[in-house]
Amino acid sequence: MSILSRERNAESGFSEVAFGYTGNIRMRNRKIAILLSGRGSNFMAIYEAIRRGDLDAEICCVISNIADAGGILRAREWGLQTIYIPSRGVERTAYDRMLIEALRPFDPAVVCMAGFMRILSPEFIAAFPSRVMNIHPSLLPAFPGLHAQRQALQYGVKISGCTVHLADEGMDTGPIVMQRAVEVLDGDTEESLSERILEQEHDVYWRAIASTLSQETMRID
Ligand code: GRF
Repeated sequence: MSILSRERNAESGFSEVAFGYTGNIRMRNRKIAILLSGRGSNFMAIYEAIRRGDLDAEICCVISNIADAGGILRAREWGLQTIYIPSRGVERTAYDRMLIEALRPFDPAVVCMAGFMRILSPEFIAAFPSRVMNIHPSLLPAFPGLHAQRQALQYGVKISGCTVHLADEGMDTGPIVMQRAVEVLDGDTEESLSERILEQEHDVYWRAIASTLSQETMRID
């Protein structure tokens, strides 16, 4: 098997084609799967970017590990395909296998964690190589983990922000796709800083997805 990546020519699609090859050729699609656990404002911002025509993609499914997460309720209202996979009491590898099984039929080009409060197993990452994205409310590698905005304030940094990255099996680690800086203001509280960072998250995530999707990959198996 070989994997060829090339830039898409804006006018004519791919500037090169592979021929004389008998294997299966699978073009990468533009389907996004969303994983979330909470209010889902990042998911909603991605949905809005698609609706406005800024992001040429389609949300193929929204999966939540929390039954009444705001994000999955909204996705249902919008008529998107939603899947609830409860995680309470389920061991990580077993849970991630269920996630993989749920996602596979959709064949997503990217899997976007949008406030999905779980660390993914190596098996999950291997099932969707370089296709899992995450957003985190700090300038990684600073302040990974929970309460990143609180950590930034406690440290006393003057600039924080948010990061979209490809996820690996670590916590908030993996290659950075895009970042946005946000100034920490005198008198900022965790809430006020979080709010300004979130505003940037909503604008940067869909752009990072667009950039990732534009790295079109033609796979020859
Ligand atoms: C965001 O701050 C995101 O960076 C972090 O979790 C939060 C999710 O917020 N990973 P929302 O559910 O998208 O509103």
